Amino acid sequence: MKIRIGIEALGVAVPRRYVDIEDLARARGIDPAKYTQGLGAREMAVAEPGEDTVALAATAARRALEGIDRDSLGMLVVGTETGVDHSKAVASFVHGLLDLPPTMRVYDAQHACYGGTAGLMAAVEWIAAGSGKSALVICSDIARYGVATAGEPTQGAGAIAMVVSANPSILELDVGISGAYSAHVHDFWRPLGHREAQVDGHYSVQCYLDALAGAYRGWKERAIARELVRGDGLVSERLARICYHVPFCKMARKAHVALRRCDLDGDDTGADASFREQVEPSLGLCARVGNVYTGSLYFALAGLLDDQAASLVGQRIGLFSYGSGCTSEFFSGVVAPRAAERIAAARVGEILAARARISVDEYERIMALVAPFDDTSAPGTFRFTGVTEHRRQYTSA
Ligand code: CAA
Repeated sequence: MKIRIGIEALGVAVPRRYVDIEDLARARGIDPAKYTQGLGAREMAVAEPGEDTVALAATAARRALEGIDRDSLGMLVVGTETGVDHSKAVASFVHGLLDLPPTMRVYDAQHACYGGTAGLMAAVEWIAAGSGKSALVICSDIARYGVATAGEPTQGAGAIAMVVSANPSILELDVGISGAYSAHVHDFWRPLGHREAQVDGHYSVQCYLDALAGAYRGWKERAIARELVRGDGLVSERLARICYHVPFCKMARKAHVALRRCDLDGDDTGADASFREQVEPSLGLCARVGNVYTGSLYFALAGLLDDQAASLVGQRIGLFSYGSGCTSEFFSGVVAPRAAERIAAARVGEILAARARISVDEYERIMALVAPFDDTSAPGTFRFTGVTEHRRQYTSA
């Protein structure tokens, strides 16, 4: 009998502060339209040191686990490229902070923004192999390029936690049907000891698009062979929606145009309409948070479902995960009947609305900090409080 596997529940966490992207543009002497239209950004999440990768991950996980039997968990993976220790896993901190069962596999997965997908795929395969347990997969990151760099308006931060199980009440994944593509490139990286990423910006866009073409072709071949996609027209149009990795929202548009080229022989006259229908609905949440590296694809999914889950039940969604360096994967899943109810429980709109808008001066002050300055926490959130005898300390409200 076929096992159904996918996402059962999810929770998100974002920093308590954000900068309006037009304020940032004006402070840099740049036409705001470059950031809003040229990059597709609206707001940029700003994490203070107390809101580190662990605190964001644990907060998202606590939200995802509301109503979930913790004894059903057998695995916890955190995908991140902004961990807090060269050895101890972010997942290990989260495991302790949430007092999860000791009889679990607990580890981090790293390959730039692909780490969360590596965790998701490992969880799916582990469940398919008959583990009999559920997995908690968390993507948590703080995207930093530095003040007044070209990448600055594409910064962001946040975490998304997903319970992956044989009871996929949000999204049932097409297990075993995916395409992968990897290449050794220096498009984006962060040398040991650096807080900010190094990036060859325009080259990174091209690396992403090359990887997308390679991964999509692999998925398409398998999807056709397994009769997952049927009917006339472009194969990509057989997908009701496509969620891309979103380093900045305009990237999803570039990706979609490139994806359609993989299906087409001649000119593309339908790209605008298809982008509006298949992709734009997934960008609302991403535009208000910025890049979350490992989490960006899953923020796109959460934003899409928060907006449209009820009308997408039973329909197939494509997902593209890209990790610089690079590796990537195109995969798909079908929206489950309880998706709308489940995503409503994640209270995404409420979490965004609770944030405070800060000035560019305040953002620059926070960027320069190395120790937490804010000793208040919103209810239900975790916070890093400092280091005692080389051990990171956390508290929760
Ligand atoms: N009004 C409207 N649009 C304007 C404008 C204006 N006044 N001025 C410029 N624009 C448009 C440009 O035409 C351009 O649009 P197109 O890309 O459609 O041509 C867009 O705004 C951006 O302009 P530039 O290319 O001149 O911008 P830039 O060189 O300053 O920086 C960037 C762009 C390279 C993406 C930079 O933001 C960056 O380095 N970002 C970080 C790297 C990144 O996100 N890469 C993505 C792929 S790698 C990945 O996905 C992994 C990851 O998460 C990092």
